[in-house]
Amino acid sequence: MAGRGQLLLADMATVVLATGYGGPEMLTVKEEPAPAPGPGEVKIAVRAAGVNPVDYKSYSGRFNSDPAALPIRLGSEAAGTVTHVGDDAGMIGVGDDVIAYRITGGYATELVAPVSALVPKPESLGWPEAAGLMLTGVTAWHCLAATGVHAGDTVLINGGAGGVGLMATQLATDRGATVIATASPGRHELLRELGARPVTYGPGLAARVTAAAPDGVTAALDLIGTDEAVDVSLELVADRARIATIAAFSRAGQAGIKALGGGPGAEPGTEIRTAARPELARLAAHGRLRVIVAATFPLIEAADAHRAIMTGHTSGKIALIP
Ligand SMILES: NC(=O)c1ccc[n+]([C@@H]2O[C@H](COP(=O)([O-])OP(=O)(O)OC[C@H]3O[C@@H](n4cnc5c(N)ncnc54)[C@H](OP(=O)(O)O)[C@@H]3O)[C@@H](O)[C@H]2O)c1
Repeated sequence: MAGRGQLLLADMATVVLATGYGGPEMLTVKEEPAPAPGPGEVKIAVRAAGVNPVDYKSYSGRFNSDPAALPIRLGSEAAGTVTHVGDDAGMIGVGDDVIAYRITGGYATELVAPVSALVPKPESLGWPEAAGLMLTGVTAWHCLAATGVHAGDTVLINGGAGGVGLMATQLATDRGATVIATASPGRHELLRELGARPVTYGPGLAARVTAAAPDGVTAALDLIGTDEAVDVSLELVADRARIATIAAFSRAGQAGIKALGGGPGAEPGTEIRTAARPELARLAAHGRLRVIVAATFPLIEAADAHRAIMTGHTSGKIALIP
């Protein structure tokens, strides 16, 4: 056992940290000793880490600017191979390919994660796809559950071409709902391929949605946070309990719509999101849910990955490859 401990202590990991509050220039690549897994934990050789808007927001200063919280470890989802197991790791063994979510510090070559955060990686998924399945997937799942989307519904998905939007579009069509998804024209073909009726966002949106859904819209998701998305949803959906936002938290209370996730006054949906993980893996394994990867970047170029996602116009997931 001493040999095992010494081996782990000698391991070094490359990690990406935010060392200050601000833009992507605050990201630093560092070599540090890789920690050993404790009880109920495993160590994973990361093959890909998912990038999400919350990652750059976490060090932007928007939520927090407390110097005591620095440096900030980034990355709440990753996929990789288990290399070491701690005590009480259950059925997980060395060599298992896993998806880890929700974790801290996924932007790394080595990661220690609790077994409770792991789901077996479907063999059919590539590493970038596996790393990008969960955060957007559980968010989309929560949105559909909170608004009760079912077969026969017509759902307006504002921001249909984003990471969450592409998941929500597929999950809603898989349930038998008709999806009207907003996106810029360059994304329409992809949305059609996924079974949605695409409409271009911008002035006149309500009329375009009505033309695409002449029998009316029964539920709406705001996955982008613009006033336009909230206003059009309020105009077209009669039952406000069937409108949810994951971004327009300041408007949700007054508008009487559901705010979901980690924002102020929002419903975290922890149980729904946790239960969704194996379901998402199953749907992906059966080819009923695709993870659309917009781009991959080397781990050490995480700052460029953040510059890309900060444009707000990437279509699908960005992954970092160690
Ligand atoms: N509350 C939660 O639990 C939770 C969880 C995940 C994400 N979020 C938040 O939800 C938002 C979306 O996340 P994401 O990962 O999907 O982001 P993302 O992948 O970066 O979204 C980019 C997409 O937004 C679309 N878009 C940009 N402006 C738009 C507009 N005015 N109307 C409609 N679509 C527009 C773009 O489409 P075009 O390229 O066609 O313009 C692009 O495809 C972020 O603010 C994120 O922080 C919240």
